[in-house]
Amino acid sequence: MPIPISAMIGPSTDQVVVLLIGLPPTAPNPCSANSVPNMATTIPMTNTAIRIPATVASEAMPETSFLDRTRDGYDRTAGGYVTAFQHHLDDKPLDQAMLRAFTQMVPANHRIIDIGCGTGAATAVLRDQGADVSGIDLSPNMIAHARRLHPDIGFATGSMTDLDLPDAAVGGLCAWYSVIHIPDEALPAVFAEFHRILVPGGVVLLAFQVGDQPRHLTEAFGERVDLLFHRRRPESVAELLHDAGLAVHAQLIRESDGDGVESTPQGYLIARKPAPSAEEPAS
Ligand SMILES: C[S@@+](CC[C@H](N)C(=O)[O-])C[C@H]1O[C@@H](n2cnc3c(N)ncnc32)[C@H](O)[C@@H]1O
Repeated sequence: MPIPISAMIGPSTDQVVVLLIGLPPTAPNPCSANSVPNMATTIPMTNTAIRIPATVASEAMPETSFLDRTRDGYDRTAGGYVTAFQHHLDDKPLDQAMLRAFTQMVPANHRIIDIGCGTGAATAVLRDQGADVSGIDLSPNMIAHARRLHPDIGFATGSMTDLDLPDAAVGGLCAWYSVIHIPDEALPAVFAEFHRILVPGGVVLLAFQVGDQPRHLTEAFGERVDLLFHRRRPESVAELLHDAGLAVHAQLIRESDGDGVESTPQGYLIARKPAPSAEEPAS
């Protein structure tokens, strides 16, 4: 049987690296969102419906929104993603260190939300580090795998552009290689949403590929996709966080780890929503 060529996408994407891997030419049919029960019991979270802005349409040719394209891309490739990336953090000590530092900075007795959690790889690391964590993702099929793999963690579908969470709902917000799918023009509103759901003193952790140009992926795991990966400069992301009222506390840039998957440096930012005393110093 010929070895199929599958384009891999992943948390450290722009991993538009075509690799010879022993995956079937078509990724396994991802399980349907409803086929895997949500067995989470520890964290109250509704299985929200995704609230997506109306699809943009032109007279000449219907267009789909960036959210539709992203959801469709991950729904199609969720099975291949699990096979390739479920353990992507195992051999990344600096990534684990950032996750641990973030967990330790979250105000005591507050829960963490992992937004764009995918199949739950980073969510599980946060749990193993002692966090009270749950996950949200745009893709129902990614969420179905997350629930199957981590039945003790609460997962729900939803979009970071319009979170079905009340104000000040969480002490920590992790977006691990997920704002990479948000176009520049939508990022300020996403960071405003992050600020809204954090308690004062709450902490946000971002991971993303460092660079200037987006990467467009049209095939992955034998499936046609239309996925844009927005690489960014840490200083630009830090400025947008600052503009949203989130004070950057720490930045890490590490080089690509030479695993044949990463092709850019990787960026990590930790920012904090100031506590009221810091926002409004007593006169
Ligand atoms: C590269 S994967 C990273 C997944 C996971 N964080 C990990 O480290 O394995 C990007 C994930 O972000 C999700 N995502 C993209 N846009 C999103 C949005 N607007 N809201 C929530 N999740 C989103 C995708 O569905 C996908 O699962």
